[in-house]
Amino acid sequence: MAPIDFVSAISAAIVLFARAITADLTVSTPPLFQYETRQLTDAIVASLPIADQKLFGFDDGAVNSTLFRRSGECKVFPGDEDWPSEETWDRFDELIDGVLIPTIPLAASCYKSWGVYDAVKCAAIMDDFRNPYLHEADPTSNMWPIFQGKTCLAFDRPNGTCTLGSYPSYAVNISTVADIQLALNFARNANIRLVIKNTGHDYLGKSLGAGALSIWTHNLKNIDFIENYKSDSGYEGPVMKLAAGVTVREVYLVAEDHDVTVVGGICESVGYAGGYIAGGGHTPMSGYYGMAADNVEALEVVTADGRFITASNSSNPDLYWALRGGGGGTYGVVTSIIVRAHPKMPIVTSLINFASGGNISNEVFYEGVRKYYEMMIPFTDAHTYSYFWIWANDNGTFSFQMTPLFAPNHTIESFNELMKPWFDRLSELGIPFTAETTRYESFYPAYNNNWGNDTVAGLNAIPGNRLFPRGRWEDPVKFEATFGAIKAHSLRGKTIGGYHQAPANRMNVDNAVSSAFRHVINFLIGAALVDGAENATSEQMTEAVDVLTNEVLGPWRAVSPESEFGGSYLNEGNVMEPNWQESFYGIQYPKLLQLKKKWDPKSVFYGPTAVGSEEWEVQDGDQGTQTQNGRLCRV
Ligand SMILES: Cc1cc2nc3c(=O)[nH]c(=O)nc-3n(C[C@H](O)[C@H](O)[C@H](O)COP(=O)(O)OP(=O)(O)OC[C@H]3O[C@@H](n4cnc5c(N)ncnc54)[C@H](O)[C@@H]3O)c2cc1C
Ligand SMILES: *[C@@H]1O[C@H](CO)[C@@H](O)[C@H](O)[C@H]1NC(C)=O
Ligand SMILES: *[C@@H]1O[C@H](CO)[C@@H](O)[C@H](O)[C@H]1NC(C)=O
Ligand SMILES: *[C@@H]1O[C@H](CO)[C@@H](O)[C@H](O)[C@H]1NC(C)=O
Ligand SMILES: *[C@@H]1O[C@H](CO)[C@@H](O)[C@H](O)[C@H]1NC(C)=O
Ligand SMILES: *[C@@H]1O[C@H](CO)[C@@H](O)[C@H](O)[C@H]1NC(C)=O
Ligand SMILES: *[C@@H]1O[C@H](CO)[C@@H](O)[C@H](O)[C@H]1NC(C)=O
Ligand SMILES: *[C@@H]1O[C@H](CO)[C@@H](O)[C@H](O)[C@H]1NC(C)=O
Ligand SMILES: *[C@@H]1O[C@H](CO)[C@@H](O)[C@H](O)[C@H]1NC(C)=O
Ligand SMILES: *[C@@H]1O[C@H](CO)[C@@H](O)[C@H](O)[C@H]1NC(C)=O
Repeated sequence: MAPIDFVSAISAAIVLFARAITADLTVSTPPLFQYETRQLTDAIVASLPIADQKLFGFDDGAVNSTLFRRSGECKVFPGDEDWPSEETWDRFDELIDGVLIPTIPLAASCYKSWGVYDAVKCAAIMDDFRNPYLHEADPTSNMWPIFQGKTCLAFDRPNGTCTLGSYPSYAVNISTVADIQLALNFARNANIRLVIKNTGHDYLGKSLGAGALSIWTHNLKNIDFIENYKSDSGYEGPVMKLAAGVTVREVYLVAEDHDVTVVGGICESVGYAGGYIAGGGHTPMSGYYGMAADNVEALEVVTADGRFITASNSSNPDLYWALRGGGGGTYGVVTSIIVRAHPKMPIVTSLINFASGGNISNEVFYEGVRKYYEMMIPFTDAHTYSYFWIWANDNGTFSFQMTPLFAPNHTIESFNELMKPWFDRLSELGIPFTAETTRYESFYPAYNNNWGNDTVAGLNAIPGNRLFPRGRWEDPVKFEATFGAIKAHSLRGKTIGGYHQAPANRMNVDNAVSSAFRHVINFLIGAALVDGAENATSEQMTEAVDVLTNEVLGPWRAVSPESEFGGSYLNEGNVMEPNWQESFYGIQYPKLLQLKKKWDPKSVFYGPTAVGSEEWEVQDGDQGTQTQNGRLCRV
């Protein structure tokens, strides 16, 4: 049988004309990219043989998906009687024009068991394994092997074993909306687990799943700059329309070209319109423009029933609300977004360093850190953001390094004025420090000189984080307790990475971004080390998880309780976070859960700690932490 002929399908042509409006100034009808005009329609489904209709058709009552749920309460798994036959997979591949990719693990060439052993190729993968772009270019690889189950690590071990682990069984190399609709319909109708992989940055394992069919959006790279856009939210001005596979640096480069600022994160290779926006997205520009999700005017999305719709202020507003902060891979597959572009703005940055040692005791060092902490209210009120580290050296001294303090719309003079109380205090304490301050004409060079590429795929640490609310700074007693807990953590020899930032609600929007972000003033990253690294036993993993959850995050949680709008960032969270619903989603959780039931009543989408995931579990054996290496079943 031939693949679907979209061009000759009459109803498809109607859809094309109805939706492909490219004029600027259109209210509530965002323009579509070419790949978004290639859609699956009722007429196309009706033109298929009945057997195809059942497997690839929409969920509108015509298809009884319970017919395909003979495995009881679990999604089907390879080897099950109900797992689709080779012929069915071939037919699916035919319908999507040959873009189905059966998974071969990225490091398969390091092992003989896959029959593709190649020492040279393996060496190249080993060398490059910590480079995020290596994993992005692969249909299924993920940047956090611990949550994958570590089943095919990049080590030259010809006699070792390499298995699929949490990698999905198949990926679809998406190039049209119809590819997404067909994959989603097939997964739903045949009760196959579905995952979405964009870049694979997620370190809770959300873009992975054993026995899954994966929607791989990486190759959707279109970017349009629209100078005069009129949105149904009342916004009029420049926007960028971004395809699902575009990354942060790609956005920044186009924004710089057009003399605008588009808010994004600090790691260049993170996907922009996928997990980042869905999780809220924090940004060095938060002091002016809040969270990245606050800047989104519209999203194009394929929903759990297979339909392609617009979510905006006037079109499916409840879905629009949930897609901005309610978490990735939960409510639909986003194919593109429209995000506001702001005027170009000068930026001052400063690299700040000091340390204990010599005549500077650790106590005096910590007085210098305390002054910084005391300044977080005026610093965030002045629209600034920072990224800093504090660590213990082997010789018992401590180092503080801020890389950098990021001050949009400041002059060197206004910046120095803002810093004066802190720097004066450091001088008064006798702490030598350096502050290397630079002013840039716009966001991009300031970004590029300070941040960018990152290393990923470490095996010896598991991360988590905490968001500390401003209220803890406003009450002196609470401030002492909060700063005390952070200092005590550090004095125990544990590293702190963090930010001062206050996205608040600078754009005055109503969306699903966690209430913790509306109150946060300080965001800290903590980690636990995994004994045994790549060979860690499940006991060693459990031990590391306990340390992270209780010893590292426990004392922080105690001084930033949810009742005071403390919380944790879901996109960089501890996958074993207790009470994750409230920690990750704040007061938004009940409404998000209600919307999950409305928009995805059959649980087509699942992700660890995603909204509604408490109804499911991954039976991954005993890995010592939650991986995606097993069957997905209802609890
Ligand atoms: C090194 C590093 C630096 C980071 N820096 C920042 C930062 O500065 N600011 C910040 O806020 N975050 C940052 N993050 C966290 C980042 O936002 C998350 O990892 C995010 O989930 C990545 O999204 P992705 O689409 O690139 O990744 P993926 O792993 O591909 O996907 C993540 C999640 O989003 C879902 N998803 C992806 N695409 C779609 C889609 N089209 N439709 C629906 N769901 C989709 C997936 O199903 C999955 O649940 C950083 C992460 C790393 C590893
Ligand atoms: C769907 O199929 C199941 C199993 O055959 C049957 O029990 C159920 O009544 C059907 N539902 C509908 C709405 O037809
Ligand atoms: C990113 O860093 C890695 C090393 O971690 C390097 O191999 C790669 O070339 C870098 N990529 C870019 C685009 O700079
Ligand atoms: C792999 O096994 C073969 C055959 O048993 C043996 O000759 C070879 O030395 C082994 N290689 C490694 C790297 O262990
Ligand atoms: C995926 O599709 C794109 C075209 O959209 C193509 O360039 C690329 O080579 C494909 N990748 C794989 C791994 O098949
Ligand atoms: C946006 O949506 C809200 C709620 O539906 C509505 O009150 C408001 O008028 C809309 N804005 C515009 C400019 O239409
Ligand atoms: C302690 O170690 C750090 C890191 O190696 C070094 O920079 C510093 O000079 C040392 N301090 C003293 C007092 O030895
Ligand atoms: C940036 O600063 C200038 C000068 O103080 C001010 O006029 C402008 O409004 C500021 N920009 C924003 C977005 O607040
Ligand atoms: C430490 O010594 C330096 C000179 O070496 C001096 O400038 C500084 O004031 C001293 N600090 C303290 C706390 O004594
Ligand atoms: C893990 O085990 C492998 C195989 O036994 C071994 O080669 C490797 O050195 C071990 N790694 C560590 C960090 O102990």
